[in-house]
Amino acid sequence: MIDTITEYLHILVPLGVASILAFYFLIPKRVGKDAPPIVKSTSSIPIIGTALEFGASPMNMVRRCYEQYGPVYTVPILNNRMTFLIGPEAQEPFFKLNDDVLSPQEVYSFMKPVFGPGVVYDATKKNRQVQFQSMANGLRSSRLRCYVGKIEKETVAFLKGWGNEGTIDIFDALSELTILTASRCLHGDDVRETLFREVSELYADLDHGVTPLSVFFPNAPTQAHFKRNRARKEMVKLFSKIIAARRANKGKSDGTDILSIFLDIRYKDGTLITDEEVTGLLIALLFAGQHTSCITSTWTSLFIMNNPHVLEKVMKEQSDILDDKPFGYDSVNEMKYLHDCMREALRLCPPLCLLMRHVKKDVKLTANHTTYVIPKGDTVLVSPTVSMRLDSTFPDADTFIPERYGPGREEHKQPYAYMAFGGGVHSCMGQAFGFLQVKTILSVILRQYEFKMVADKMPICDFEAMVVGPKGDCTVTYKKRTD
Ligand code: HEM
Repeated sequence: MIDTITEYLHILVPLGVASILAFYFLIPKRVGKDAPPIVKSTSSIPIIGTALEFGASPMNMVRRCYEQYGPVYTVPILNNRMTFLIGPEAQEPFFKLNDDVLSPQEVYSFMKPVFGPGVVYDATKKNRQVQFQSMANGLRSSRLRCYVGKIEKETVAFLKGWGNEGTIDIFDALSELTILTASRCLHGDDVRETLFREVSELYADLDHGVTPLSVFFPNAPTQAHFKRNRARKEMVKLFSKIIAARRANKGKSDGTDILSIFLDIRYKDGTLITDEEVTGLLIALLFAGQHTSCITSTWTSLFIMNNPHVLEKVMKEQSDILDDKPFGYDSVNEMKYLHDCMREALRLCPPLCLLMRHVKKDVKLTANHTTYVIPKGDTVLVSPTVSMRLDSTFPDADTFIPERYGPGREEHKQPYAYMAFGGGVHSCMGQAFGFLQVKTILSVILRQYEFKMVADKMPICDFEAMVVGPKGDCTVTYKKRTD
């Protein structure tokens, strides 16, 4: 309780002061004549009204401003000018421009206490390139081939505890299963089999250490931050032991996990990566892929079980493909309709609702026949949640229609329109892994069980969470298939 009050005070006091300063000193100074329009809040409270409106319902505000001001507009929040680009045309520069113009480093720097020093956005440009290249190597298709069998095995073992029928919270169950599969593929058999409980407990403390407060004050003295810092240090100790054992050839690993790539990283000047940095990279991947994947598998399964005609098509595809082919990388890749169900669940409920960059040089863009110049120093944002629900881009945008990606429609191919995985230079590195992981899990589960949602309506998106998951009743009943 005290922690919660401290969190609010930490937000509200500086928020008020910073907004007053911003209003009087920052905003009028920097804008040129082509700067985007500055939005007015619907709240009657002066100066901090926009921050309060945004805090209360961020996506409603983004949508309202789009309808009122058009595709490009600026919301003054705290001491920041937040400039939104909504719709494919306005979003183009966000995905096209490189880090020298639109940089992710400054806006995601609040993750440094989680990943540790020298990792990803805290690394030098040269070291970051090497780290990203190693991540990409670990997630390329030759590696993914080995992962399908591992994910299938984990899922089958997990389902053994379910019995013939029962009731579960599907979101909780898929969260548990996702971290088991991620640990097997990212960390390796040794970690998964001997240290999984310790790793997942420490991960939970790291995860709870990233709150809305952390974005503004990553080192505020709260209980959650203390636990986060302790957990990262413990995680480094744990992985240092594994790394030492692997280096002495005593670790149990088949060499296909991503840890085995990270521990061999050498930077361009010849230095070997430190154990702390290896651990930080593993944490970064778990952060990028854990919530996103389990949220996606939850929404996809809920949409499928709530649409009988979709379920029928999914099951037909399963039997058509698996009747004459063993389950594996190739057959999962052939499951196009399941792929489109996942893609559509992501369009309606993307786990990342806002993507951000810091503007390092003025950016000129044209949208809706108007030219804008976004001034250096702004934070620029795009919103997968709002943009992917525009009827002008995805007709009947609020309805779950996997067929929109099929032959004759292919709506995801419109430039800069489909953005659940971002796009351009920083598009998701784990996209192929995420598809494979979620599809493998759902294929195994749906072939074994029939499901029914207990509540009579779908959950809604939880915009209070850092990664947007379902809010509401996710309880389902399941029964073993007999067919
Ligand atoms: C269905 C699940 C997933 C979704 C919806 C998703 C979404 C995204 C999005 C929107 C971005 C762009 C962020 C930005 O532009 O600021 C991103 C980046 C990234 N994702 Fe994913 N992701 C998923 C799964 C994964 C998985 C499983 C991994 C790794 C195992 C992963 C690793 C990454 C990495 C490393 C980046 C940073 C790329 C860069 O900055 O260059 N993601 N993801």
